[in-house]
Amino acid sequence: MNEIETKPVEFDLPSQADPSTSCKPSQAWARVPQTPGAAERAELKAEIKALLKARDAVLVAHYYVDAELQDLAEETGGCVSDSLEMARFGRESKQQNLVVAGVRFMGETSKILNPEKRVFMPDLDATCSLDLGCPSDEFNAFCDQHPDRTVVVYANTSAAVKARADWMVTSSIALDIVGHLHAKGEKLIWAPDRHLGQYIQKQTGADMLLWQGSCLVHDEFKAEELKMLKAQHPGSMVLVHPESPADVVALADVVGSTTQLIKATQTSGVNTYIVATDNGILHKMRQFAPGKTLIEAPTSGNSATCKSCAHCPWMAMNGLKNLRDVLRTGFDTGVGEVHVDLALSTQAYRCIDRMLDFAKTHGISGPRGQGRLAQAHKGVGPA
Ligand code: 13P
Ligand code: SF4
Repeated sequence: MNEIETKPVEFDLPSQADPSTSCKPSQAWARVPQTPGAAERAELKAEIKALLKARDAVLVAHYYVDAELQDLAEETGGCVSDSLEMARFGRESKQQNLVVAGVRFMGETSKILNPEKRVFMPDLDATCSLDLGCPSDEFNAFCDQHPDRTVVVYANTSAAVKARADWMVTSSIALDIVGHLHAKGEKLIWAPDRHLGQYIQKQTGADMLLWQGSCLVHDEFKAEELKMLKAQHPGSMVLVHPESPADVVALADVVGSTTQLIKATQTSGVNTYIVATDNGILHKMRQFAPGKTLIEAPTSGNSATCKSCAHCPWMAMNGLKNLRDVLRTGFDTGVGEVHVDLALSTQAYRCIDRMLDFAKTHGISGPRGQGRLAQAHKGVGPA
């Protein structure tokens, strides 16, 4: 029996016959692993724990992946975090090998920072619409047209795009770094997320030329419906990841990276949160802020043509079975191993290392994802 559901189409709309159908990850680009039953899951988890030890490997997971993978990472001494902390944790870990449960750019960043370690992913095809939307040849041509500008790229890019950049940033640190460059009088190229770029431009006043990429998950949040939902929950706090459209960001009480949004649920003292980011984050929010009411921000309504599930199809490609397989056989066969061309890696290393160095010297983030709130509206100040 074929255990992996494969959708060879580039994009497939949900059934029009059933208007209640929502876009499931399996209807988008990605191969989504089937979820095994409870008994099999328990066996898989036990085997993964043993294999991590046997392979001298540590599991580094993003907040958007399956809740059981997040728990496994923590139970085995690994890390669940945002992309900044994932990069730092991988570099500082004692194990010889890294298994990255997330998307491709996260695996590549780990490999670039740790060329001496072997880095694996449950599925190497787990990509990101921002990465896909910024091909390196077109990006290089764009940069060539503006040689006077400092090139700042988001972590959600290929190694080849990072190789062209002066700085890499993640959403935890983007405002600080762009603010710093702006204060030095530098003019910037920003790629690839147009919404995040626009948000940073507005907050810092920096002169930025924006690449026009977007995240297919965050692009779906709808401002009109969010406004209505907020009105139905007076006293609630709206938490928004800055990859969302500007009209959604404008309604936010807190705008920040995944870590910063989780932290807001712990520190703000409010009971109800409307969350505009991938719903994988709710697992950590429930753990860190038990008893709080968490509501997913709307992706449909009068201003939408269909309902998106607010879950990244590529993050969803990480499952227990393919994680077990990569540990069981991938270490021997090389299937699932991340490789980055050495010349590109050497070039790309500079912009990532520069960001990590900046984070360290400016105290931007402490150990294990203790980032500070990037930007807050309406009286909710930085932690
Ligand atoms: P963070 O850096 O906030 O974890 O975001 C990564 C990402 O891909 C968000 O969509
Ligand atoms: Fe990329 Fe969006 Fe998925 Fe994050 S949620 S990995 S930005 S497609």
